[in-house]
Amino acid sequence: MVKMMDTGRIRRLALEARKGSYAPYSRFHVGAALLAEDGRVFQGCNIENAAYTPTICAERTAFFKAVSEGVRRFSAIAVAGGRADARPEDLDFCAPCGVCRQVMAEFCDLDTFQVILVRSEDDYKIYTLRQLLPEAFTPSNLE
Ligand code: THU
Repeated sequence: MVKMMDTGRIRRLALEARKGSYAPYSRFHVGAALLAEDGRVFQGCNIENAAYTPTICAERTAFFKAVSEGVRRFSAIAVAGGRADARPEDLDFCAPCGVCRQVMAEFCDLDTFQVILVRSEDDYKIYTLRQLLPEAFTPSNLE
């Protein structure tokens, strides 16, 4: 049973984090808000690059900010993404890419970590990480 938690704060902060997006090539703006177990929230946005491959997604920006500050235990992440010129009411659900799901699996419990796809503060879908990354390869495989 997944623990119910109040995710309103990170839903709002994911939408806010979109504003930092640097995406001149795709014009697809993504924001993320990662809730640590200690209650801290790390925001991230996607940051693109003229050479394309150095681009980083909003979710990994948030994770790497947190981990670089010594935080490694997380409860949930909220993600909001869509075309830069989309009206807020036209935002679609934006699911994390496979690479970001793998980064989540490095630090998060597959059954309790919640991934929240946000269209607006009150329009969202919640998944466990295991639902998004079945048969995951995780640190436990290397024990
Ligand atoms: N992107 C994210 O930041 N997160 C996702 O969940 C999907 C894709 C970014 C990467 C790139 O800058 C742009 O969105 C288009 O793929």
